[in-house]
Order: sequence, then C-alpha cells, then structure tokens
Amino acid sequence: MDLRQFWAKFNRNKDAEETEADLLGALHNLPRHLAIIMDGNGRWARKRGLPRSLGHRAGVEALRTAVKTCSNLGLEVLTVYAFSTENWKRPRDEVNILMDLLIEYLQRETEELHRNNVRIRAIGGLSELPQAAQAELARAGKLTASNTGLVLNLALNYGGRVEIINATREIARLVKKGKCQPEDINEEMFAGFLYTAGLPDPDFLIRTSGEMRVSNYLLWQLAYSEIYVTDTLWPDFNKIQLLKALLVYQQRDRRYGGIK
Ligand code: FPP
Repeated sequence: MDLRQFWAKFNRNKDAEETEADLLGALHNLPRHLAIIMDGNGRWARKRGLPRSLGHRAGVEALRTAVKTCSNLGLEVLTVYAFSTENWKRPRDEVNILMDLLIEYLQRETEELHRNNVRIRAIGGLSELPQAAQAELARAGKLTASNTGLVLNLALNYGGRVEIINATREIARLVKKGKCQPEDINEEMFAGFLYTAGLPDPDFLIRTSGEMRVSNYLLWQLAYSEIYVTDTLWPDFNKIQLLKALLVYQQRDRRYGGIK
C-alpha cells in the first residue's frame, strides 16, 4: 500500500487496531537507526494545568512505547535526546526531576528490556551526571552488553558541538604524539572518535512539538538523515504516530547529494 492509498483508507477507518495492523502491513523499508528529539513535555503539562514534572513523567511513558515499538519492529538503533548540555540551565528542581526519572526508568525497565534483547547504552558527558544515575547506567549497560537486538542509546548531558570538539582534541593529541598524520584524518576515522563510534548514522530524525531546529543534537551524524517534524507533543506521540512517521520515511527518496 503506498502512502496515498494508506491515507485514503486511514481517513475512512478510525478503528485504531485495524489502522495499526494496516500500518504494520504497509511498512517495509525501515530505518536502521532512528533518532528522536522528545520535545513538548512542558507544553503538554501546561495545556492541562499540570506541573512540568508530570509532563516529563508522561514523556517517560511515551519513551517506553517508542522503545517497545522499535524493538518489535527490529530497528537496530534508537537514539533519544533525554538531556542536553543546555538543559542544566533549567531550574534546579526540574533538573533533579529529570535525573530522578532517568534513574527510575532504568530501575523499572532494565530487566524487561534485557529480556527483550535490548542493549542499553548512553552517549554524552556521562561523568558529569549524578553518581546514582551513573551507577544505574553502568548496571544497565553491563547487564545488557551482550544483547543483540535494539540498541537503546540515551543521549544524556549530550551536546553535538562538545562531542566534535572532544573528538578533535583526541585526534590532535595523537597527531602531536606522532601516532597519526593530519592526512590520515578522514570522515570514517573522525567518526570513530565520536560517542556513536561503531553505530550507523541515523537514517531518520523525528522531532516532536513542531520546532524546526536540531538543537545541538548529533550534528555530525545527522548529515544525511531524513527529518520529520510533527506538531504532536512528545507525551502524545503514541505507537500509531510513530508507525505513521516511519511510513513517511519509507516514501522518502534518499539521494545523498547524488541523482537517480
Ligand atoms: C523536552 O520537553 C524534553 C526534555 C528536556 C527531556 C526529555 C525527557 C523525557 C522524555 C523524560 C525523561 C526521560 C528520561 C529517560 C530521563 P520540554 O520540557 O523542553 O518541553 P517544552 O518545550 O514544551 O517546555
């Protein structure tokens, strides 16, 4: 079923289960690596007259759904922007809530994710996270290290510019020691010094809540990613919405700067 046929059917039929089955049936060309900017928790809460903390809590539920869906679909990597290097500028209480939610998420989900063959890892300045968060991440990473299913990559204290600067510094040190020459530096080599070394670049970036920017996310890795922005706020981004986004991805014509 192509996208037009799907929408014609979708608009006639509002029965969620049938729609989900249709979507699943229509999906074939999935991204290997999906990256998500989970934006809109605060606005979701404000619309309901709730504290921002409840927006983040609802955001965790949306994350659980996204992880389960990606794992069931057989995606290789899901990278989610859970906390940026800029998020430290938020009020202390909100930062603490986000860190507590991270710890709670890992404590509550790790065993089930492990049973589902998901490998949990994190990218970013992890040593600056609270000790308890570091300990949970280490535990989850160790337990799931040899899993072969979905890689769940949590971007935490993550900033794309810092990542590129850190890689540059490491390479500069090698050059200074005479262990490599400036001419040896190429894209493949450089990518090997990023947090995402060994992972394929994201094929598809989803950003919720309508903002048209990349917000210092995976600046190197997104070079040729297809981008999808939806007005849906992250806590409302459910399985059907994710499947619809993936259907849009599969209609994209990826040319990587070339022509067909
Ligand atoms: C953006 O919403 C979201 C974040 C800053 C972080 C994403 C966090 C979660 C989905 C929940 C926590 C999950 C883990 C695993 C820690 P926003 O607050 O910027 O929303 P707004 O732009 O509407 O204010």
